[in-house]
Amino acid sequence: MLAELSPKLVVEVHHAAKLLAASSRICVLTGAGISAESGIPTFRDKQTGLWEQYRAEDLATCTAFARDPQLVWSWYQWRRQLVHNKMPNSAHYALAQWQQDTEVYKQHLTLITQNVDDLHEQAGSTATHLHGHLWRNRCSQCDVLYNSPLDTQSTGQSQRLNSIASDDDKLIKCTHCGGYMRPDIVWFGEVLPVQAWQTAESAAANCEVFISIGTSSLVYPAAGLAQLARQNGAKIIEINPNPTPNTVVDITLAEKAGIVMPLLLKQIDGLLQR
Ligand code: OAD
Repeated sequence: MLAELSPKLVVEVHHAAKLLAASSRICVLTGAGISAESGIPTFRDKQTGLWEQYRAEDLATCTAFARDPQLVWSWYQWRRQLVHNKMPNSAHYALAQWQQDTEVYKQHLTLITQNVDDLHEQAGSTATHLHGHLWRNRCSQCDVLYNSPLDTQSTGQSQRLNSIASDDDKLIKCTHCGGYMRPDIVWFGEVLPVQAWQTAESAAANCEVFISIGTSSLVYPAAGLAQLARQNGAKIIEINPNPTPNTVVDITLAEKAGIVMPLLLKQIDGLLQR
């Protein structure tokens, strides 16, 4: 595998591994790119990105839902269908393994994700979700959560499939107040979940190394976490085959996460076992 990579990348992976093996507090932020190799489209990649084909203003805002709840609900049901049979890839598995390893080596790794899929959890990670959960719903009026039938974290994949089939495309009404159900996802203009954001801010501000994986670094406040980490003295590593506007990066690993992450983990392991 190493032979297929450019010499520059091989050097950079080794550099990153040395830094990470010597760090006790690590913060990882993932974005849609980490799930791309599982077959889930990103948002902004040319041609395949969801926001290249659909207008976010029509589908991912409160105004859009108030104007046409059926359209928004149908689009998210379509996304659930798109994602329901997708499996974690080698980057998710490497991260999950690494999270377990850090406990053995008395390090601490906080995993923050902007993704609404549950592939980190399926791979065995514990992740803080900044942008909500695709498999959870809540009432658009009274905010009651309807997580149990659709929440794979507590119910597993088979129930998730049943829920999709039974929910179909029809709008569902809240049994408490009669309001329409919406996906429990943070839409544009909405505030991030308080607890999740506090966890993210604290992990970024207190880490020694911050790693940004598969995110375009365009959506705030998540995109500001790397800057926060940097202001507090952390080194910043970015894993992304494409350039991003992130200006605080110390080490760029310009390759797919599914290729870089297993290599990185192997090298960190090698260094820690010496
Ligand atoms: P984007 O679609 O904006 O960016 C995905 C990034 O992943 C791009 O920079 C790609 O170059 C990179 N990428 C693609 N394939 C990759 C691979 N195999 N390995 C590593 N990187 C790869 O997705 P996000 O940055 O996650 O919000 O977008 C942020 C938010 O904008 C999302 O959470 C979503 C969206 O609106 C909500 O759903 C609330």
